[in-house]
Amino acid sequence: MSGQAEQQTERLRADADGIARAAALLQGGGLVAFPTETVYGLGGLARNPQAVAAIYGAKGRPSFNPLIAHVADIAAARRIARFDPLAERLAAAFWPGPLTLVLPLAQGHGLAPGVTAGLDTVALRVPAAPVAQALLRAVDAPVAAPSANPSGRISPTRAAHVLDGLDGRIAAVLDGGPCPVGVESTILATHPPRLLRAGGLSAEDVARVLGAMPETPHVVEDSAPSAPGQLTSHYAPRKPVRLNVTEPEAGALWLGFGPDCPGAALNLSDRADLAEAAASLFDALHRLDRLDGTRIDVAPIPDHGLGAAINDRLRRAAAPRG
Ligand code: TXA
Ligand code: MG
Repeated sequence: MSGQAEQQTERLRADADGIARAAALLQGGGLVAFPTETVYGLGGLARNPQAVAAIYGAKGRPSFNPLIAHVADIAAARRIARFDPLAERLAAAFWPGPLTLVLPLAQGHGLAPGVTAGLDTVALRVPAAPVAQALLRAVDAPVAAPSANPSGRISPTRAAHVLDGLDGRIAAVLDGGPCPVGVESTILATHPPRLLRAGGLSAEDVARVLGAMPETPHVVEDSAPSAPGQLTSHYAPRKPVRLNVTEPEAGALWLGFGPDCPGAALNLSDRADLAEAAASLFDALHRLDRLDGTRIDVAPIPDHGLGAAINDRLRRAAAPRG
């Protein structure tokens, strides 16, 4: 994380002026964090090698872990990657929305090599959040954007979370309020269909288009990635995390789910709603990390629907730290 000049990070409101300013900063090669429906992304021009290098620098991200290129619509996506009929169907069903497709690069894609970390595939996403859409249309070029957190830490679902981790290291944050989905996009490769990351679009929803549940490949840790970024310790709060806790230990902060968690420090959803729990997950971890307590004890969460993404993030938050 060296060599990053300290800079004054602008806080921009997500109105027309703020979006225009954010677009101008991006077009000038700067880094701007912006809201999507999943989490805040740390944007930089995907065709500008210096901007892409600066994303890795600001996050302290390992250079083998490629970025997602964000575009406003499928027409822009088709200029970057080759779409087979299955990819077309998935994009038609779920874009714009919380799905990232990993596809072979197209001729003349123009992306800086750092975006794909040298792979011959690219992760592409068309976000649905109106602010993200407006920004991508104003920039009129692909924007590389990992989640806007220092590498290995909890992803940001509010502008304040972004500033906690990256204030002084990026040009601006565009504040569009809390992200409604709250966990990152589902990542799917299509050749053959493989679920590389559980996320804001449930595997059950994907299965309705595929006709079967997507395979979940076994991920080899820390290797040059076919399914990269799936490092075991990730999304780590500073406090230790323990999962599936029904009887929290004295001194621990209990993160509840559902109506049967009396005395929980916070509850992801009193009414046991998985979408509500996903939307509040990262903010809850950010908040619990600030409270007094020895550890974070998390109540059991069902593993279907968005629960799969929630449990994936919690397992990594609880994994031994590398
Ligand atoms: O919801 C999201 O996806 C957010 C918002 C900002 O769009 N972005 C996000 O980016 O979560 P990031 O960088 O935190 O996660 C991107 C993941 C990483 O696990 C990376 O390894 C994987 O996408 N990825 C990128 N390119 C890939 C490729 N060509 N093949 C396989 N995985 C790839
Ligand atoms: Mg991330």
